[in-house]
Amino acid sequence: MAVFLAEPYKIKVVEPIKVTTREYREQAIKEAGYNMFRLKSEDVYVDTLTDSGTNAMSAEQWSALMHGDEAYAGAASYYRLIAAAKDIFGYGFFQPVHQGRAAEKVLFPSFLEKGKYAIANLFFDTTRAHVELAGARCLECCNPEAADTQLKAPFKGNMDVEKLEKIITEKGPENIGMVVMTITNNSAGGQPVSLQNMRDTAAICQKYHIHLNIDAARFAENAMFVKLREPECKDMSIKEITRAFFDLADTFTMSAKKDAIVNMGGLIGVKDEEAPYILKIKANCISFEGFYTYGGLNGRDLDAMAVGLYEGMDENWLRYRLATMEYFGERLDEYGIPYQSPAGGHGIFLDAAKFYPQIPYNEFPGQVLSIELYKECGLRGCDIGSFMIGNDPDTGKQLKSINEFTRLAIPRRVYTQTHYDMVIEAINEVWKKRETIKRGYRITWEPPILRHFQATLEPIE
Ligand code: F0G
Repeated sequence: MAVFLAEPYKIKVVEPIKVTTREYREQAIKEAGYNMFRLKSEDVYVDTLTDSGTNAMSAEQWSALMHGDEAYAGAASYYRLIAAAKDIFGYGFFQPVHQGRAAEKVLFPSFLEKGKYAIANLFFDTTRAHVELAGARCLECCNPEAADTQLKAPFKGNMDVEKLEKIITEKGPENIGMVVMTITNNSAGGQPVSLQNMRDTAAICQKYHIHLNIDAARFAENAMFVKLREPECKDMSIKEITRAFFDLADTFTMSAKKDAIVNMGGLIGVKDEEAPYILKIKANCISFEGFYTYGGLNGRDLDAMAVGLYEGMDENWLRYRLATMEYFGERLDEYGIPYQSPAGGHGIFLDAAKFYPQIPYNEFPGQVLSIELYKECGLRGCDIGSFMIGNDPDTGKQLKSINEFTRLAIPRRVYTQTHYDMVIEAINEVWKKRETIKRGYRITWEPPILRHFQATLEPIE
């Protein structure tokens, strides 16, 4: 029987949640154009739309806010954040920014332009967008194991290094602007990357003189997976594993809204403090984000991030975090419900293509399942599949995703076991009714880029 590891925290402040009926929710999702991002959060019972910025801060973080120095330049908060980041990552230069995509926007143009490529183990959607906004194109080489959701392999997030080298030689190393290693690999289902795979990827980048950037949003969850699953790392601390990864890259972009457990914030790290592109980073930051010692954040946010970076790396916390996902997965296994297994670090990725084999990718099975779960119990998840991937930027044709997932991303320190149990029972109800769903959805309006955040849909009758 699946066992739940007890929370390593207690609750000091609570937020009431509205209880709604199925009828109410059917109307609410219709009014939202069948798009989860257009729902009002007060109409949601358990919100797993994202684990980004939805975390509960600790008493230490709330106290740190009071130390916030709101000076425009040279704030004490900035120096506290830099000291924490240097201690953890060991890099020479750090640039705070308001969130992960800002880090991408500020850093990527130093390496990417028209005619260049960025290659990743998989891109998150905003990362893909910033590669394309810089004029470059995305190529992906994810471990093929990730496509088989039923295969329980330890490092499904890995880079396919053979394919990486093949693409580099085919396209010409001079045309590859950067390689991005996403840890954990969000789009593959929050799946980890091994230290050995990071070493192999870095060796290829060094061989061809290609810049290596870590997309570090969930670096701590990845480190915990490595500790648990990679035998040579079992006696290393989370900090030692983190150092081992970051020593192998040139830069990182980080959304601090995930593992640094804040509601807003991001960070760029550059290993070489004399790298010439630091000037460009500072200039872009001043134009887009704000002066480089605050990067679009309040002084108090920099302090909350400095504390959160350490809390996010606490081993007891991470052990609980991953055990929660494992519990969720094992309960789904008991019902025979398919998801990307083993469970990812930040959520459960239900295999919507296996719920609804009768629904083709261009009727968006992941979106269908998100809507059914919302109607069933007020759970909000989202499509990580063809609806999210959108259209080819050159041909305008709908792309087909490797997987059709409905992602349930679990906010940190927010929900309890009872919430998870309620959600698991509701998923099982939707699973039992899966054959009654005959068709999917069509898009009635979409913007040209990142369409899934705003598009409206209607059911195909
Ligand atoms: N990289 C990864 C791997 C991400 O998961 C995200 C955000 C970003 C970059 C961008 O960071 O949101 O702070 O600008 N992921 C969120 C999600 C939104 O729901 O997975 P951001």
